[in-house]
Amino acid sequence: MRERTLAIVKPDGVGKGLIGEVLRRYEQQGLRIIGLKMVCLSKVAAEGFYQVHRERPFFQSLTTFMASGPAVVLVLEGEDAINRHRALMGATDPKQADPGTLRREFADDIEHNIVHGSDSAESAAFEIPYFFNALELYPAGGS
Ligand code: RTP
Ligand code: MG
Repeated sequence: MRERTLAIVKPDGVGKGLIGEVLRRYEQQGLRIIGLKMVCLSKVAAEGFYQVHRERPFFQSLTTFMASGPAVVLVLEGEDAINRHRALMGATDPKQADPGTLRREFADDIEHNIVHGSDSAESAAFEIPYFFNALELYPAGGS
C-alpha cells in the first residue's frame, strides 16, 4: 500500500553532518521526499511529539535531547513506506541493529540514534501534521 511516514534526522545526526547521507539513502531506496524542513524543537514541542512515551523512564532525557539542537523533519512517500523506512533505520539500540542500517552505522547509543521514523499508520497520522500542513507537502504529480 502507498503510505506516508514521518522521518527526523535527530540533533545528533545533524551535528554529525549526516543530513546528506540520510536523505541520499531515502532517495536511493525510492522513498520520495514530499516534505522537508529544519526545526529547532522547544522542550514542550518535543514532549508533545513524544507524548506516547510520557510515562517511560527515558522521557525527560529523550525530550531534552530532541530539543538540544536543530533537527531535519521529512515526509517520505512510497509503497510500504513505514516499514521500509524502519528497515533502513535499524533497531532502536544500534547494538541490536542489522549491519548496513543507519543506526548500526552511525548511532552512538539507544537514545542518540540519529533518526526517527513513524512506527505505524496511526503514528504517521499524528506525526505528519505535527510538523507539516497540507500546503507543505508535494506528492508526485501534484496534490
Ligand atoms: P523513534 O520513535 O525515535 O523512531 O525510535 P524507536 O521507535 O526505534 O524507539 P521508541 O521505543 O519509540 O523510543 C523513542 C526514542 O526514545 C529513545 N529511547 N531511549 N534510554 C532508553 O532506553 C531509550 N529507549 C528509547 C530513543 O531515542 C528512541 O529512538
Ligand atoms: Mg518510536
